[in-house]
Amino acid sequence: MPYKDKISKEKLPAHIAIIMDGNGRWAKSKGKFRIFGHKNGVKAVREVSEACAEIGVKNLTLYAFSTENWNRPQAEVNALMELLVKTISSETKTLMKNNIRLNAIGDLKSLPKSCLTELNEAMEKTASNNRMNLILALSYSAKWDIIKSVKSIAQKVKSEKISINDINEELFTSELSTHKWPHPELLIRTSGEHRISNFLLWELAYSEFYFTSTLWPDFTKEDLYKAIVDYQNRERRFGKTSEQLTKDEN
Ligand code: FPP
Repeated sequence: MPYKDKISKEKLPAHIAIIMDGNGRWAKSKGKFRIFGHKNGVKAVREVSEACAEIGVKNLTLYAFSTENWNRPQAEVNALMELLVKTISSETKTLMKNNIRLNAIGDLKSLPKSCLTELNEAMEKTASNNRMNLILALSYSAKWDIIKSVKSIAQKVKSEKISINDINEELFTSELSTHKWPHPELLIRTSGEHRISNFLLWELAYSEFYFTSTLWPDFTKEDLYKAIVDYQNRERRFGKTSEQLTKDEN
């Protein structure tokens, strides 16, 4: 039976986050330059976005470019930025057709102007779409976001808008650039690496992690469905015991 048919609609994650990894190795295995892997990674982005929209996942966050990725060779950074601009511009029509809203998190002002312009245009155009949120993490790192939130809260305390006693999990969450969406229930990382790599450190506190050795350009809809089925077969205890959960259900 295909994995899609094994998915229980009642237990769908509302938010899936993905660390798309392995583009470089995929290209190398074919004797090609790294950018060839990134270009083929765009196909997987399309597949996964479509798959999520089709089955009813409401939020999908993709780690497309981390703060640390700026340290890659300049030629690769330039090629990735160019690819982002091209992809965002060519995919806007499909996002509109599928009623998907494009959002972005990260230090967006550090992106090249052409990239930011294309991104802002696409975000404006798709702003009233409501079938699914596609959230691109661009020039993003969780530590960057956390420091930004801490500074904002410190400023509010300093100007006496809030007191130290007002600081709690809810307030902190509301300051993060991810505050509009629920925290991901499922994190997927491809390519066999088992790291978070500075991605959504606060938001992933209780997420289920799914690792696969598949390299990102090879990741298909069926791979996504398989990850969701795996997630649905897990018991999410949030610190409670298994017995407590059974009691809560009754
Ligand atoms: C990780 O593979 C991938 C990236 C850093 C870039 C991801 C970008 C894309 C899939 C293309 C554009 C995306 C969008 C959303 C338009 P890696 O280069 O670290 O691979 P490696 O670990 O094998 O070297």
